[in-house]
Amino acid sequence: MRFSTLAGLAAVAGSASAAIQGFNTGAFFLDQSAKKQVDFAYEFRRAQNLPNTSGWTSTRLYTMIQWGTASDVIEAIPAAIETKTSLLLGLWTSGSSQAITNEITALKAAINTYGTAFTDLVVGISVGSEDLYRDSKPDEIGIGPATLIDYISQVRNAIAGTPLEGKPVGHVDTYDSFLNGTNSAVIDAIDWLGFDGYPYWESNNANSIGDAHERFWEGYNKTLALSKGKPVWVTETGWPVSGPTQNQAVANAENAQIYWQDIACNLVAQNINIFWYTLQESQMGQAAIDFGLFPAGDLFQVEPYFNLAC
Ligand SMILES: *[C@@H]1O[C@H](CO)[C@@H](O)[C@H](O)[C@H]1NC(C)=O
Ligand SMILES: *[C@@H]1O[C@H](CO)[C@@H](O)[C@H](O)[C@H]1NC(C)=O
Ligand SMILES: *[C@@H]1O[C@H](CO)[C@@H](O)[C@H](O)[C@H]1NC(C)=O
Repeated sequence: MRFSTLAGLAAVAGSASAAIQGFNTGAFFLDQSAKKQVDFAYEFRRAQNLPNTSGWTSTRLYTMIQWGTASDVIEAIPAAIETKTSLLLGLWTSGSSQAITNEITALKAAINTYGTAFTDLVVGISVGSEDLYRDSKPDEIGIGPATLIDYISQVRNAIAGTPLEGKPVGHVDTYDSFLNGTNSAVIDAIDWLGFDGYPYWESNNANSIGDAHERFWEGYNKTLALSKGKPVWVTETGWPVSGPTQNQAVANAENAQIYWQDIACNLVAQNINIFWYTLQESQMGQAAIDFGLFPAGDLFQVEPYFNLAC
């Protein structure tokens, strides 16, 4: 009895400082059609009403811009207001030097249009996503550390004097990119680090589902060690339900459930902010590698691939 009381108290104390739990949310469906406010709201409501799990009340966006427009505010913002979904904002910074300018235009427009109904929902802002990683690859388009630091300072200037001032500004990248000494000045410029970790993709390491726990925490711990004391948020992780085998990593629902129960459930228990990849990947098409908890179809009609209970 005494133990169960203590466990109950611990559960209450834990919930008081609960981790932020959310999903990564793309701006468009698989067929490249733009998600509208109604689509975003539908996803957010589903995330808040998952069977056998709770607390998934946040979302991470990659861009502030509505897909298919130059700099209109992404309709995920009014959808988040409508559903009381908290927001990790993202500004897409690769591709052209115009990108950050357009992102900042949309960010300012969102503040002006929606005011504190919007800004009160913001838990953080990520300037960029895996840009340093892509920059180190010959055939991919990213940006280097000096450009990224300039963009971070542009974003800080843009939110100064607005209700978003003081919201933590970070950057999302792979841990080996943060580890690269060339990039260490980026860490000085941000308030938190976003860690993306996918044991499935770690083909040069032992990466069976049985190794996944070790791979994930090795990456997370390395990121924490180089974070200069700043918080490390898990901004992307997941295991695919279908797709080709990568080294020893087999994509299926059984392994995706093992990974969810181990990684998602443990992160929540440890109060580490987590943005899962992802709620539903196949919609208006079938993803070749599908990381979704749900298959294609109406999110409130289809069942998740596996039991989400922790
Ligand atoms: C470190 O980062 C620089 C700049 O992006 C890149 O040129 C270099 O290849 C990276 N080194 C490694 C080992 O990835
Ligand atoms: C990660 O760090 C935690 C806490 O220090 C430790 O318990 C765990 O063994 C580490 N895991 C790996 C794979 O390094
Ligand atoms: C929820 O959990 C119960 C008990 O473990 C299980 O019977 C049920 O199938 C689960 N629901 C879903 C949708 O996975």
